[in-house]
Amino acid sequence: MTGVLVTGGAGFIGCNFVRFALKGRPEWRVVVLDALTYAGNLENLQGLEEAYPGRYRFVRGDVTDSALLEKLFGEEGFEYVVHFAAESHVDRSILGPLAFVRTNVLGTAALLEVARLAWKEKKGRYLQVSTDEVYGALGEEGAFTESTPLDPSSPYSASKAAADHLVLAYHRTFGLEAVLTRCCNNYGPYQFPEKLIPFMIVRALDGKPCPVYGQGQNVRDWIHVQDHNRGVLLALEKGRPGEVYNLGARCERRNLDIVRALLTELSVLKGWDISRLEERIAFVKDRPGHDWRYAIDPGKAERELGFTPQVPFEEGLRDTVAWYLQNEGWWRRILSGEYLEFVKKLYGTQA
Ligand code: NAD
Ligand code: DAU
Repeated sequence: MTGVLVTGGAGFIGCNFVRFALKGRPEWRVVVLDALTYAGNLENLQGLEEAYPGRYRFVRGDVTDSALLEKLFGEEGFEYVVHFAAESHVDRSILGPLAFVRTNVLGTAALLEVARLAWKEKKGRYLQVSTDEVYGALGEEGAFTESTPLDPSSPYSASKAAADHLVLAYHRTFGLEAVLTRCCNNYGPYQFPEKLIPFMIVRALDGKPCPVYGQGQNVRDWIHVQDHNRGVLLALEKGRPGEVYNLGARCERRNLDIVRALLTELSVLKGWDISRLEERIAFVKDRPGHDWRYAIDPGKAERELGFTPQVPFEEGLRDTVAWYLQNEGWWRRILSGEYLEFVKKLYGTQA
């Protein structure tokens, strides 16, 4: 058995990775370490213990807890670490930056240090799941390559950039076998309804306005979570240590076009009056420091790792809308307490 530690496995991308890995790598034993913050949800991992007896373990804990990490490395003898755990939402990092520094910077530092010491005798591989946001904003032209200088705009992306630097420093200084992936905007099942796509879906289904920042002309580059995870697995198994791999599917869209596409799909499925679709959109105050455009050049991952995204955007978006319709209980259980407070604090009366 290959021991694999997946941090943040109860979150959106992590839970999809855990399912994908347990299915596709029968020789893996996967240990999920997750603090179950507002974004972590045990429902995302339901049924795995029964489906994969002896191959799956869940541990509730914090990535900044070095003693817990040491204990887990001792018990499980990990050969792979895939580090997803993070505070991940840009708007929350504007409301409260310190949690981002704690989890994303100190958490990564704690994990790297425990892995370094544990892998002095028995070698292992570390994969840092990072983001294109570390590169900052693009204008209307060009795309991020792995050599684009880091120029983060938000406390979230600054904390992720700091973590990236630590990972590369551990490789250069200590020879840690570490690989970094930087991916663009993900969408798909189990995404917490604070991010653009699921947020707009649940707002529209509840008959509430969809708050679009500024004029909705900012561009994001989209990839289905399953394709992101294909890239993560390839980078973990085949990536060259000390290297960065950009992951993306060459799929740029303006925010307003995404919101319109979602509302159109929902209108078809729910029989809403398409001619009144625009009334569901509310243009609200822009996000401070809002990056204009992201675009990933995934050429290096395609050439070196054989990375080929497989989910066409329009199909993936339709499936995602269908997933949220079929899993209303899942998101309804989230729409209470802390979530409502957050929405009130961020959007106020604007939406
Ligand atoms: P998410 O917010 O949905 O999930 C994060 C998970 O980490 C949650 O389960 C949460 O409980 C856990 N967590 C948070 N703090 C923790 C701590 N201190 N200790 C242990 N667990 C903790 O995030 P996501 O969208 O699934 O993103 C996962 C990773 O992928 C992050 O590192 C993020 O930066 C990166 N990423 C995300 C995207 C995207 O579009 N969502 C794109 C590129 C990269
Ligand atoms: O690029 C990768 C990054 O993508 C990840 O590293 C982050 O973890 C992830 O949250 C995401 O960051 P963004 O800020 O791009 O995603 P978000 O879904 O918050 O917003 C997408 C775009 O939509 C952005 O331009 C802001 C806009 N937006 C978002 C929300 C939530 C709106 O116009 N209205 C909204 O209510």
